Amino acid sequence: MLIFLDTIDLKAIEKFVQLGIVDGITTNPSLFLHATQAPIKIIKEIIHMFPHGIINVEITEQDHDKAYIQAVKIRELGNNVVVKIPAHDMYLPLIAQLIKKQIPINITLVFSVSQAVLMGKMGVQYISPFVGRLYDNGFDGIEILKNIIQSFALYGFSTKVLAASLRTIDQVNKAIELGVASVTLAPSLLEEICCNQLTEQGIQKFAQDWQAQKENLFI
Ligand code: G3P
Repeated sequence: MLIFLDTIDLKAIEKFVQLGIVDGITTNPSLFLHATQAPIKIIKEIIHMFPHGIINVEITEQDHDKAYIQAVKIRELGNNVVVKIPAHDMYLPLIAQLIKKQIPINITLVFSVSQAVLMGKMGVQYISPFVGRLYDNGFDGIEILKNIIQSFALYGFSTKVLAASLRTIDQVNKAIELGVASVTLAPSLLEEICCNQLTEQGIQKFAQDWQAQKENLFI
């Protein structure tokens, strides 16, 4: 199971890479909104910091030829770079072209089982269903994620499902229970998972009880 960090925050990336918790990074154009450096500079820094990680970088062009050139340039940033492309019909010829060129692709903004299955059939490496945004729009995000995972298993697709837009620990737990191949998590959500309140309370209780003993020499 792969865990991606959904961020361009270099400090958070450094922290979790050093801990060996994450397998890669996912980025999207919105994450660069308040960046103080040029996106390309940040992306190169991420690739440099995490040479063995799977780094996802999304195209921003909509014109076919421009998007193709951009996708190839993104891939040329490193052998570990995966090109993210939205699951829109305008990109289908581009996706087919990049598959022929054996450029690894992550299809993003996936919102339905049939959309996911079409992409799986085309043979992309990853598809990213947006669980949180499904809930935002009145759909059961986890149910749709479950149906995608089940249909991929049924049809024997090698495409990995990468659960994205997960907003709560409960959603992450449910995605894992479904046996999802990969998840991407905002650093704040990963921090939250690492800091379970009951663990915190348990440590405090152990410390209190230990201090209350007369003889507390251990080793
Ligand atoms: O990986 C996709 C993720 O960044 C989108 O999350 O919360 O904007 O729907 P959100």
